[in-house]
Amino acid sequence: MKRSTRRLIDEHDLILRVIEAISVEAKNTIVSGNFNESFWADSIDFIKIFADGIHHNKEEKHLFEMYSQRGIGKEFGPVAVMLNEHIVGRVCVNNMESALQNGKTDVQKLVSSAREYCELLTQHIAKENQILFPLGETVISDSDEILLNTLFDDAELELGGNQTILHYQNLVISLEERAGIVEVVK
Ligand SMILES: [Fe+2]
Ligand SMILES: [Fe+2]
Repeated sequence: MKRSTRRLIDEHDLILRVIEAISVEAKNTIVSGNFNESFWADSIDFIKIFADGIHHNKEEKHLFEMYSQRGIGKEFGPVAVMLNEHIVGRVCVNNMESALQNGKTDVQKLVSSAREYCELLTQHIAKENQILFPLGETVISDSDEILLNTLFDDAELELGGNQTILHYQNLVISLEERAGIVEVVK
């Protein structure tokens, strides 16, 4: 059984790959003036469904709840900071979506909101990986781990289970290819 935080760190790796693809595409967009609408629509879909709907949902509903029961409260301290950053991230992605949905895309707003999101989430993930999760390991028992893994499985199933995860893993590769980070394999 993988530890629950190992599962979240693996998801962080996928989110960081999308952040890299978005950062490169943002630069490409500004330098070339070419705007790839489907890239941005798919990036927003990844952030909303995978990063927020699957990943942040597991943290908020299950991991942070468990931390709270074991003495790492969510009213202040590192968990409160993480929860607030999830909210700020949602504002960024809503701004990206509204920049894209206005009929005539506001490219400047889209790119600046995307860069804000990338910067925020990069720092956020580093804080979880390096500070919060190691702190959490000191209070989580083996039986807590078993429960967390079951709750994570259930949370994934609610959003389509393995098929959905596979879809977003493939979308990461596709975004990297479209941003020109990796060569298209044919
Ligand atoms: Fe988080
Ligand atoms: Fe996270």
